Parts: sequence; C-alpha cells; structure tokens
Amino acid sequence: MATCDLSGRKVLITGGARGLGLKMAETLAGQGAAVVIADIDAEAGAASVAALADQAHHVSFVHLDVADDASWEAAIPDVLSALGGLDVVVNNAGIEITELFVDLNPDHARKIFDINVVGTMLGVKHAFRTMRPEGPAGAGGAIINIASVAATIAFPGIAAYSASKSAVDRLSRVAAAESGRMGYGVRVNAICPGLVPNAMGAQLANDTAELGLFGSTEEAVGAVVSLTPSGRLATEQDIADAVAFLASEDSAFINGVALSVDGGMGM
Ligand SMILES: NC(=O)c1ccc[n+]([C@@H]2O[C@H](COP(=O)([O-])OP(=O)(O)OC[C@H]3O[C@@H](n4cnc5c(N)ncnc54)[C@H](O)[C@@H]3O)[C@@H](O)[C@H]2O)c1
Repeated sequence: MATCDLSGRKVLITGGARGLGLKMAETLAGQGAAVVIADIDAEAGAASVAALADQAHHVSFVHLDVADDASWEAAIPDVLSALGGLDVVVNNAGIEITELFVDLNPDHARKIFDINVVGTMLGVKHAFRTMRPEGPAGAGGAIINIASVAATIAFPGIAAYSASKSAVDRLSRVAAAESGRMGYGVRVNAICPGLVPNAMGAQLANDTAELGLFGSTEEAVGAVVSLTPSGRLATEQDIADAVAFLASEDSAFINGVALSVDGGMGM
C-alpha cells in the first residue's frame, strides 16, 4: 500500500458501505483521515463501520441516497458534526447494469444515469457549497469522482454505464474549471479504475458471458486482461491508493484530470 499523510483530513466517501468505497475508507483512515461512509445501504454501512472501528479507525456512517438532493441536504449537517469539517469528498457510489442495445430497458438506462451522473453532480454541488470559503467547512479541499475505464474504451454490453462514466469524466473537468473561476479553492479530479474482480466487476464479466458476448466468464475476464499492458485485473487497493494520492497534498497541483488506474487498458 502506498502511504500519504492524510492526518487531520476530513473525508466523505459515498457508496462506502462495501466494495471499492469501503477499501478507500479503510485506506484513507489508515493514513490518518477521519472518514464518513455515506451509503443507501444502512445495514452494510453499520457493519462496515463496526469492522473499521475494530482497527481503531475514525470512521462513521451517514445514510445518503446520492441521487436525491433532499437526502444530501439532510446528510451534510450530520457529516459536519461527525467530522468537525470537510476537506475531501469522494463521489464513488455507482451502479452497473449490463444490457445489449437490442434489449435496452430505458428504465435501466435512466437509473444508471440518475445514480452515476446526477448523483455525482449532486455530490459536487454539496461539496462545493460546504467547502467553498463561505461554506460551513470553508477551507477548500478536493473532490474525487469515480469514473471507469469504461469511459475510455468501447466494451460491448455496457453502453449506458460507459456513457454515464464518460459523463463523470467530463463533468469533473467542468467542475474543476468552475471551482477555479469562482474561487472555491477545491480541486476536482476523476479516477478511471480498471475492472476489479469484486462483486460489481465479477457480475459484469458474468453478465457479458450470459448475454453471449463471450463464451464464458473466464473468457470475458481474459479479454480484459489481454487488453491490459500490465497483464492483470485491478485490485481494490490499486484504486484506494490513487484516491489517497488525489486526496493528499502530494497532488496539490493536479486538477481537472481523469487519472486512469487500469494497467494501461484505456490508453
Ligand atoms: N468494480 C469495478 O470493476 C469497477 C471498475 C470501475 C469503476 N467502478 C466504479 O467504482 C464505484 C464503486 O464500485 P464497487 O465495485 O465498489 O461497487 P459496489 O456495488 O460493490 O458498491 C457500490 C456502493 O454504492 C452504494 N450505492 C448504490 N446506489 C447508491 C445511492 N443511490 N446512494 C448511495 N449509495 C449507493 C451501494 O449500496 C454500494 O455500497 C462505482 O462508481 C463503480 O461504477 C467499479
């Protein structure tokens, strides 16, 4: 694990109850940050906070539906009272539904856009409002939006997801530009993770095989690996380390980029 100094950092991670967000919470807290996990799944969130507290990490849970503006309004005061401020927001919550164009269910596409795009935009909105000079935290900071290698390549079966993550990439750059013009003192970057064989990544590989795009799940995974110069899938730690870097002062002059953490798959 790479190490950054995050002591004193106050961090909100959406979708942190499991998967990549949980690994980010563990990693950033392990490097000295105080972390709030915000998630729609309160049961998983509470279990994850209990597990991290056992490792003496400063982590707590706030309920949040990222796609709901009123939910953000209600959550931010709880985040501020748990952390005593806010320096870093990681907009990580996201969903994926694999579907061929010929079978496209518009409700699935709308749901993906609602959570991945509108949810991320609301995260930027409330992070700016909270961290800008006149906000209740007021000291600027960093926003990290989780996009995907799917924003940078064309992989069959994931059109809506890929489009949503391309939107996350572009909206992050617009947010960085807007923050600069408005003097918010908030850096905004995106990360494009490669395929991680956790629940979401394994489901995606499985679904593409079930849709007949590959002969088997193993073949789907093999196709990803063969497109990856580093010759392997990503790990949750690979992604969490990149988040820690973009959350830290080590990246103080990095702003408005989409950092690929994909072993070169999307170059
Ligand atoms: N797993 C991969 O291979 C991979 C690759 C590239 C990018 N990503 C992206 O990384 C992020 C995390 O993925 P993951 O693999 O940990 O997925 P995951 O499904 O394991 O976790 C997603 C988390 O988001 C939460 N969530 C879903 N909808 C929400 C909402 N409306 N409000 C608040 N929380 C909500 C879920 O409860 C869950 O805890 C996602 O944005 C995903 O698109 C994942």
